[in-house]
Amino acid sequence: MRAVQIERHGGPEVLHLRKIPDPAAGPGEILVRAEATSINPVDVKTRAGVDRPNPAIGFPMTLGWDLAGTVEAVGDGVTRFRPGDRVVAMSAQIATGLGTWADLVALPESLAAHAPETVPPVEAACLPLAGLTAVQALEPLRLKEGQRLLVIGAAGAVGGLAVQLAAASGVAVTGLVSRPGHVQAVLELGAEEATHEPERLPAGGFDAVLDTAGFAQPDAVADGGRYVSIVPGSLPGFDGRPVDARMNFVEQSGEQLGELARLVEAGDLRLRVAATLRIDQIRAAHELFERGGHLGKICLTF
Ligand SMILES: NC(=O)c1ccc[n+]([C@@H]2O[C@H](COP(=O)([O-])OP(=O)(O)OC[C@H]3O[C@@H](n4cnc5c(N)ncnc54)[C@H](OP(=O)(O)O)[C@@H]3O)[C@@H](O)[C@H]2O)c1
Repeated sequence: MRAVQIERHGGPEVLHLRKIPDPAAGPGEILVRAEATSINPVDVKTRAGVDRPNPAIGFPMTLGWDLAGTVEAVGDGVTRFRPGDRVVAMSAQIATGLGTWADLVALPESLAAHAPETVPPVEAACLPLAGLTAVQALEPLRLKEGQRLLVIGAAGAVGGLAVQLAAASGVAVTGLVSRPGHVQAVLELGAEEATHEPERLPAGGFDAVLDTAGFAQPDAVADGGRYVSIVPGSLPGFDGRPVDARMNFVEQSGEQLGELARLVEAGDLRLRVAATLRIDQIRAAHELFERGGHLGKICLTF
């Protein structure tokens, strides 16, 4: 089978589509034939050596966190899936070394969920990492209906899903975006307001802030409010103000992914594809991703 691997850190030129032996499903694992995946910032940062993988993961290293495909075989003890099932999964590649950018992926069934039946694999591949990050980052914000949330980076993959999830539960969402051309897209996701001008944000105007861009806005949160960032190194200080502030890091969960997939299936969560390339165009896909400014994800088909 083919897999996207790196043998050293660097630019897109270090990405190679190599032939490696097929994996097999071990006990508790499913073997998935990949149909689509998507690029996440962590993939690019791992390739570049900005994010350093668990040192136990040596080279060559298969990259990729997102997976949408069909179960080809199941290992002993697998109870939730059968061959032929369409699935999505998120694998924390940087921690475990299990990359999803391969024709066949063997992974624990606990990481997978039945894919949303109403969308094609390319769209489904936009869900795992971004969706789990969004839902898990919203949890510590403990938002109630009618409360005000600022999402920084609201046009992005995680931000766009967080906007939708919060708005659907009756939260009044304001989106901060990087450019004027992204304002309308965020309003269409359910935000009440959106701006590309941080100076227009009311000081203390929000019960909670979710930063998905690493562009800290400590003044925006009200005293007694909550503040979550998912971008390492971007959690601001609050000068002794009473703000519950924390970093959040995504965790693997097939169960939560299943809940998100059902929202997609019900039409309550929209997945956005900006471009689709083939897996053999992986270098071009990374270059495109790194240009930024996308409304939706850069996806890859197998
Ligand atoms: N902690 C975790 O577990 C975790 C999990 C997933 C992701 N992350 C991190 O979270 C970040 C977002 O991930 P993602 O997948 O959502 O990436 P993404 O799709 O690239 O989204 C980032 C968004 O932020 C926007 N942005 C950049 N600078 C901004 C600014 N100054 N003000 C407002 N918006 C700004 C970007 O716009 P442009 O494209 O125009 O620049 C883009 O729309 C990445 O740094 C990623 O590594 C962390």
